[in-house]
Amino acid sequence: MGFLDYAPAPESRGILTLKDAYGLFIDGEFVDGTGGTFTTISPADESPIAEIALGSDADVDAAVAAARRAHTKVWGKMSGRDRGKYLFRIARLVQERARELAVAESLDNGKPIKESRDVDVPLVAAWFFYYAGWADKLDYAGLGADPRAHGVAGQIIPWNFPLLMLAWKLAPALAAGNTVVLKPAETTPLTALIFAEILQQADLPAGVVNIVTGAGATGAALVRHPDVDKVAFTGSTAVGREIARTVAGTGKSVTLELGGKAANIVFDDAPIDQAIEGIVNGIFFNQGHVCCAGSRLLVQESIHDEVIDRLKTRLSTLRLGDPLDKNTDIGAINSAEQLERIRMLTAVGEQEGAQRWTAECAIPDKGFWFAPTVFTRVEASHRIAREEVFGPVLSVLTFRTPAEAIAKANNTPYGLSAGIWSDKGSRILAVADKLRAGVVWANTFNRFDPSSPFGGYKESGYGREGGRHGLTAYLKPALAAPKAATPIARRTRKEVTR
Ligand code: NAI
Ligand code: MG
Repeated sequence: MGFLDYAPAPESRGILTLKDAYGLFIDGEFVDGTGGTFTTISPADESPIAEIALGSDADVDAAVAAARRAHTKVWGKMSGRDRGKYLFRIARLVQERARELAVAESLDNGKPIKESRDVDVPLVAAWFFYYAGWADKLDYAGLGADPRAHGVAGQIIPWNFPLLMLAWKLAPALAAGNTVVLKPAETTPLTALIFAEILQQADLPAGVVNIVTGAGATGAALVRHPDVDKVAFTGSTAVGREIARTVAGTGKSVTLELGGKAANIVFDDAPIDQAIEGIVNGIFFNQGHVCCAGSRLLVQESIHDEVIDRLKTRLSTLRLGDPLDKNTDIGAINSAEQLERIRMLTAVGEQEGAQRWTAECAIPDKGFWFAPTVFTRVEASHRIAREEVFGPVLSVLTFRTPAEAIAKANNTPYGLSAGIWSDKGSRILAVADKLRAGVVWANTFNRFDPSSPFGGYKESGYGREGGRHGLTAYLKPALAAPKAATPIARRTRKEVTR
């Protein structure tokens, strides 16, 4: 530790009034499931937080039935204007309970409180505000003459941004007029259940949103349920593939947001200080548990040594530890399984010949931790250059020309995001144009805005979330031609142009 040590500055847990046990949220009420329970723990010290219901096939069935009833009787008939009012109300309640949600998220997930407080929760509110504004404008948005919701959406989300992924899924689905059954990840169910309380506070009609906690089997039951019209998933490419197989040929609509292996490209004319901050933010934000993380640094050969030196200096100042401490930069790894995966892949990195550097920091006795790590001399064929590590681990590769940078950036089975650092606008535009990535950031990284579409190419999945594009995922495709039952002359103009 340096001469300027920080005193501990923990955010109080006093704001949380947690229950010992949480049921499933079905038809507007918390109910006991029929599948038993599991414990959600804090990854920072492995202490239990609460008992959580494990949703069974029968529970999923009850939730889907509630969603169907709510769609037929209430939500599907409600005007967009009224749906929007509920979404605005939810957004405001999220803001009112922001501190509580941030503390719960950091406790259950392990992410630093400054991230849950300043990034996750404000974006959750922003997402609901944004889509609230769309609810009454669907008819005027170029979404077809008579945009219609799918009906019941089954949504499965991961553990890296538990509440934010809930917002990305729920807000557009509800704005478009769908009802929902949502399954949170098994290691991070807590904020979704607090959110269910917010839905009760908002007086959202029963059954419009149902939350069924559980693990992979609960998710699989939701995906194959015959009365689910639309499936939306964020998570691993392996599970995404399985979901695509399950829904193939069923008529269900599906969107998949899967993994990534983003290139963060730094040219020799880049503003280096900003680029260093961008590299750090790109891969060490949220412990690197980010699908669009800048996990491959492509740095121009002439500035490689300077960038790596300055990066190591900067990383040595990051503070790892208690997620609830306001000074913490690097929180806990979300689970023992994920820590094991990071350890395995970094060991392979060393075996394959890359050079490992790890920031010096004290690792707490309990909990799951991994110090910021940088691999140099990485080759495109190494597993740490190809596979998603999903941890605080950066792989550094070099290039000499823009063409080489583009070729290396695109040499990946994924295509979710990328970053470019350069002083030259023309170069940024020329390179961005050739990158096969859904989002390309220029002289910044990991910026999110509800109005901006997000999604991938290739094994990163299909469909877009966010913006007007994000609504289309929750609406039936525009009808091509009217059925020829009524003579043309007797139809309204709206029907004819549909
Ligand atoms: P996962 O894909 O197994 O879990 C994501 C969600 O899917 C969870 O809610 C889980 O319960 C559910 N699920 C699991 N199996 C399912 C099935 N057969 N049918 C329906 N739902 C199912 O991801 P996991 O195991 O937590 O992480 C493994 C790796 O996946 C990570 O190391 C990371 O590389 C990647 N990952 C990527 C994410 C992203 O945002 N793109 C998020 C989480 C993980
Ligand atoms: Mg899994």
